[in-house]
Amino acid sequence: MVQSCPEASPVKWHQAHTTWFFETFVLRPFLVDYKPFREEFRRLFNSYYLSLDEEIPEKKLRGSFSRPSLEEVVAFRAYVDQEMGRLLARPVEEEASRRILLGLNHEQQHQELALTDIKHAFFSNPLRPPYQGASSAKGAEWPIPKLRWMGVEGGMVEVGHAANAEDPQDFCFDNETPRHKVYLEPFQIANREVTCREYLEFISDDGYGLPGMWLSEGWDMVRRAGWEAPLYWERDAGDEAGWRVFTLRGWQGLANLLDTPVCHVSFFEADAFARWRGCRLPTEAEWEHVASRKRPTGNLLDMGMLHPAAARTEEADQLFGDCWEWTASAYTGYPGYRPLPGTLGEYNGKFMSAQMVLRGGSCVTPADHMRATYRNFFPPAARWQFSGVRLAV
Ligand SMILES: [Fe+2]
Repeated sequence: MVQSCPEASPVKWHQAHTTWFFETFVLRPFLVDYKPFREEFRRLFNSYYLSLDEEIPEKKLRGSFSRPSLEEVVAFRAYVDQEMGRLLARPVEEEASRRILLGLNHEQQHQELALTDIKHAFFSNPLRPPYQGASSAKGAEWPIPKLRWMGVEGGMVEVGHAANAEDPQDFCFDNETPRHKVYLEPFQIANREVTCREYLEFISDDGYGLPGMWLSEGWDMVRRAGWEAPLYWERDAGDEAGWRVFTLRGWQGLANLLDTPVCHVSFFEADAFARWRGCRLPTEAEWEHVASRKRPTGNLLDMGMLHPAAARTEEADQLFGDCWEWTASAYTGYPGYRPLPGTLGEYNGKFMSAQMVLRGGSCVTPADHMRATYRNFFPPAARWQFSGVRLAV
């Protein structure tokens, strides 16, 4: 039940809330004789759907839910699973199956959040326990490809999800639609993500002390929060590179991670690093145009690494998995965007202010959750997600 920062939620809450989603949006409306597990859960595990309840418990209080106990939350899950089985035993209405697909994708999002939140919770614990196994990092066993620029012609391109009515598994979130045309000037994009070694050069060059490199709001954050490195980096005189990094497998010396992508940086840091290198971040349309030609595979959750890995090929690498990549694009609706009808319209649409888009998934994103059109979004100062940098010019 630990909640170590306001952005994070306890794992028990994630479990209850993903269960709540099926109870609220599938079982209550579509299973005629459904009896709710416990009436209060309707409000307790509502995350942000104001058209269901006007008074939702404040997010920062989720760590105070000592009751219901974990046992009761597990029983809630088992009950909802059993009732979902009863619903699925008969032919299911089209709207119900759409919501079930949404509920499954919602749960995958929370599987990722559970890991990012556990990482933050364990980092906040003075014992700094590993989540899984002990560190065995030895450094990359292959020569990491040099940073190379890939030229892209640009022109009129299409981005956004193209619905495929033939495929019953076809899914995207409403914010990936409609597919639309975008004009791209010719550009170049890096063949891989920025490494810890490259980011360390920025730190050594006093990148965190040069106001000219930073957006105004970013510079204010650097000074207010005392940032001097990515989240989870700590100075370590015993490490050859001078730092150690907290991972889901415990502490690892930075010297062994130098060729792996830098992770847990904010948009402000990604942007400042790019400026310092004389580059910029790609826009989300540029990123998608390049990524849509690749298969959405990589170091995703199913690989079991739980940490970004060094790039392997000279070709566009690490587009999917390793780290989410901050883009230069603000999160807003595509031309002609319409949120889902009803309460579920609150899923994505109402967050379209003051956030930046990230692309490509991370080492804790479930593999079959990822696709080229997927849009993630976080406030520009957020660092607790597995977020990194790809450069463009
Ligand atoms: Fe949720």
